[in-house]
Amino acid sequence: MKVLIAGGRGRVGSKVADLLESNQVEVVAGGLADGVDYIAGTRVAEVLDGVDTIINVLNTGRFDEEGAVSFFEESTRTLTAEGERAGVKHHVLLSIVGVGEGDASEIGYYLGKVAQERALKEGSLPFTIVRSTQFQGYIPVLADQHAVEDKVLAPRDLIQPVELDEVVALLAEIALAGAPRGEVEIAGPERFHMDDLLRATLAASGDAREVVTVDGEGKIDAMVPRGEYRAGKTLYPLRGIPLAG
Ligand SMILES: NC(=O)c1ccc[n+]([C@@H]2O[C@H](COP(=O)([O-])OP(=O)(O)OC[C@H]3O[C@@H](n4cnc5c(N)ncnc54)[C@H](OP(=O)(O)O)[C@@H]3O)[C@@H](O)[C@H]2O)c1
Repeated sequence: MKVLIAGGRGRVGSKVADLLESNQVEVVAGGLADGVDYIAGTRVAEVLDGVDTIINVLNTGRFDEEGAVSFFEESTRTLTAEGERAGVKHHVLLSIVGVGEGDASEIGYYLGKVAQERALKEGSLPFTIVRSTQFQGYIPVLADQHAVEDKVLAPRDLIQPVELDEVVALLAEIALAGAPRGEVEIAGPERFHMDDLLRATLAASGDAREVVTVDGEGKIDAMVPRGEYRAGKTLYPLRGIPLAG
């Protein structure tokens, strides 16, 4: 089996590459550092030669709607169209639980992920969308994203962070199995309220910023799975945070 990891030198992609290689899979890392550009179309056909499965873990630093939508839409369309020409049988995409819903529905980056999922579904390649909740290691970044001056403004929304290695294992398992599964979700074993989680996480790292609970505008359960999902086993590294059900 030959797998192209689009974004194979990134945070998620490099771990997926290691895991697949340890399972004797031939892996091609396709990212900017490899001279591959899915927006400009550079070297895409070349790296897809002989590939059975694409794992799409591309990312952009553009968080505004225009930038995120155009990046995720164009890169996914290019991969799908070139993948079809190359005879690819399965396109596995990493997305996020709840994008396009609740308080997250208007966030530019999440609208980019919605556009990415749509582009995948509109294409002709058999696919699996793996929707993950926030990675546990990403929670401090989430706090920064909610910062306004010297405070962090957090809604009581539900959040169920997952350990990255468990997402990596699921991506590898789905690629190895070879059978497209449509849409699959994964979340961690514990559900918190976002304000409680950010408050505890900042306190544990000695960050003195006050976390202020604010009213959210959307459904509080938009960012956690509401149907069947793979439950990770790794607990959040801090104990004593009140669980939310
Ligand atoms: N953070 C979370 O909690 C979370 C939760 C669920 C899902 N996700 C999703 O996880 C995915 C992967 O995130 P990550 O943190 O691993 O991202 P990352 O470390 O920023 O890696 C992104 C990769 O994309 C490549 N890339 C960017 N633009 C490109 C282009 N035009 N052409 C070719 N390659 C390009 C980069 O190549 P170079 O390395 O060569 O620059 C890099 O390898 C994202 O789609 C994100 O939405 C994240």
